[in-house]
Amino acid sequence: MAAREYTEEELTLFQEIENGRTFDKGEELPPLYKKALKNLLWMQHDSEYSGSLGYAPWIEKAPTMQEKVVVAQIVKDEMRHASVIYKLLEGLGEDVMSHIEKTELGFKMEEDTANIGFQRLKEDYRVNIFYYGINYWEDFILFNFLMDRAAGHQLEDTLDSSYLPWKKGIEGIYKEEIMHLAHGDKWIKILAKGENKEFLQERLNLWWPRVMNVFGSTKGRSNDLYVKLGLKKRTNAVVRDVFVKEVQDMCDQAGLILPEYREEEQPQR
Ligand SMILES: [Fe+2]
Ligand SMILES: [Fe+2]
Repeated sequence: MAAREYTEEELTLFQEIENGRTFDKGEELPPLYKKALKNLLWMQHDSEYSGSLGYAPWIEKAPTMQEKVVVAQIVKDEMRHASVIYKLLEGLGEDVMSHIEKTELGFKMEEDTANIGFQRLKEDYRVNIFYYGINYWEDFILFNFLMDRAAGHQLEDTLDSSYLPWKKGIEGIYKEEIMHLAHGDKWIKILAKGENKEFLQERLNLWWPRVMNVFGSTKGRSNDLYVKLGLKKRTNAVVRDVFVKEVQDMCDQAGLILPEYREEEQPQR
């Protein structure tokens, strides 16, 4: 969002929200609030939708029958999450179906080892980690372990959202994301004990900066605005620190090395 001074009205809004003001379905929303809310909802919608499509080929490729069922469940969960957000966007007057029809939410990069940093590749709103291909079972597991965990931490803030329909929708979504990351945790331990541990480490090295980039640049200003509007509780930088600590502990337990991440070395927008 453009860096500008806030108006008197907006400053009053921030104060009211801090004092507990919420918004419900059908209520007229202040323009700044509506714009920020729509940004976040579009980002979540497209991420859930493209996440579901990215996971889908792994129903067929999962290593056991039991795992095929688990992957199919996760694919269904993500598409259901998209449908919850779809309805919220529709309620705000957005034409989501046209967007789905004209964007390629199933698009994946062909290159296996690229790092696109903070860049976007298409005219959609997905978090840019969803542009990368999930090419190995290790990738699928790392996606659960890292990305579902990152999403879980971000959605935790939405459990207290000032936009009540979103707050309500997120409760079930949050629970399912916790199940996805638990699936990742379980498998990380299995793979870290197996003969392909070295390959798992290699893929972790590849996915780590990609997932860290999801939290955006710590210099960004839009996050402070989301906090002021009650759409987030913590800035991305704060959530990122909690996330890193958790992943670090898990990696220590599994005997994996978490690579160093330097924000300034990532390809910029
Ligand atoms: Fe999801
Ligand atoms: Fe998930």
